[in-house]
Amino acid sequence: MANLLSYVLFLALRAYAAPPEYIQRWPDGFTPAPGDPSNDSVTPSLIPPPGSSKHPPHSIIIGVRKGGTRALLEMLDIHPEVAAAATEVHFFDWDENYSKGFDWYREQMPYSYPTQITIEKTPGYFTSQVAPARIHAMNSSIRLLLILRDPTERVISDYTQVYFNRLENHKPVQAIENMLVKNGALNTRYKAIQRSLYDVHMRNWLQHFPLEQIHIVDGDTLIHDPLPELQRVERFLDLPPRIEASNFYFNQTKGFYCIRSDGHERCLHESKGRPHPPVNSNVLRQLRSYLRQHNRNFYRLIGRTFNWQ
Ligand SMILES: *[C@@H]1O[C@H](CO)[C@@H](O)[C@H](O)[C@H]1NC(C)=O
Ligand SMILES: *[C@@H]1O[C@H](CO)[C@@H](O)[C@H](O)[C@H]1NC(C)=O
Ligand SMILES: *[C@@H]1O[C@H](CO)[C@@H](O)[C@H](O)[C@H]1NC(C)=O
Ligand SMILES: *[C@@H]1O[C@H](CO)[C@@H](O)[C@H](O)[C@H]1NC(C)=O
Repeated sequence: MANLLSYVLFLALRAYAAPPEYIQRWPDGFTPAPGDPSNDSVTPSLIPPPGSSKHPPHSIIIGVRKGGTRALLEMLDIHPEVAAAATEVHFFDWDENYSKGFDWYREQMPYSYPTQITIEKTPGYFTSQVAPARIHAMNSSIRLLLILRDPTERVISDYTQVYFNRLENHKPVQAIENMLVKNGALNTRYKAIQRSLYDVHMRNWLQHFPLEQIHIVDGDTLIHDPLPELQRVERFLDLPPRIEASNFYFNQTKGFYCIRSDGHERCLHESKGRPHPPVNSNVLRQLRSYLRQHNRNFYRLIGRTFNWQ
């Protein structure tokens, strides 16, 4: 009896915590028997769970690329009142998507229950010239999440990702020094460096949104001690506190926290947390020194400092 009771309770909790999933439904009048050869020719249609619908996001993780946006979204997805979009939509930064309009955008969102908020993440928004005005036009009171890490580390991580993508596609690769230096000087036009000029991009956002609407998550802290950062996000989004220490466990092999929720364990993709290549110390010093003034400008803009080198 006690067993049955706890099982029912378990089901109730699961139903509460589980994000909406599609339900498989076979066409009317068709129920395949095991081994039925027509099984292969008839596919079930997928219907959304009753009571759920799609909404434009209540909050967007706008960046930064290589800042930990995937980790942040996956960790927020632990929360029963969060419905996270599965893919990066690139609606506000890519014209060919933006021209499809807001109805198309809403269709890209996951099904959610009325008690849930929808969150999308596209790291390219932060460095996009046009995204802030477009997001403002959709919802001027939307809450934005921005996850940042040391901008020098971000440059190297950005390079590393492109390096592995090119390797996989059998394209030629360059040493990082060849990207960072041109004609004996720091190549400040290198896209990975441009994306790390947080002050430049932030100024663009602050022309459209007040600072109170942009919550900055410390990406370096999130990796080493996720819970306090997530609790700050819960408060920013007015979510009841539901994420707990027991939702995380440290994976020694990965050197990362993995997630435990709904009785499932999951770790970030293999491509996350790749080791960085060694960088010539002289070049690294030039890069740090170039970014230092931009970092100071950024601290002044947001009224907060970080331990960036
Ligand atoms: C036929 O479909 C049912 C329902 O998805 C499945 O459980 C069963 O294993 C299938 N049988 C075969 C032989 O494919
Ligand atoms: C947005 O547009 C790009 C380029 O056309 C495309 O590759 C991408 O899949 C689009 N996003 C979605 C969600 O369709
Ligand atoms: C705009 O965003 C705010 C903050 O998340 C939310 O409360 C509100 O419902 C949104 N408005 C629309 C029309 O989606
Ligand atoms: C820890 O990480 C390794 C390497 O990514 C993975 O193979 C393993 O399954 C993980 N273990 C747990 C308990 O998550």
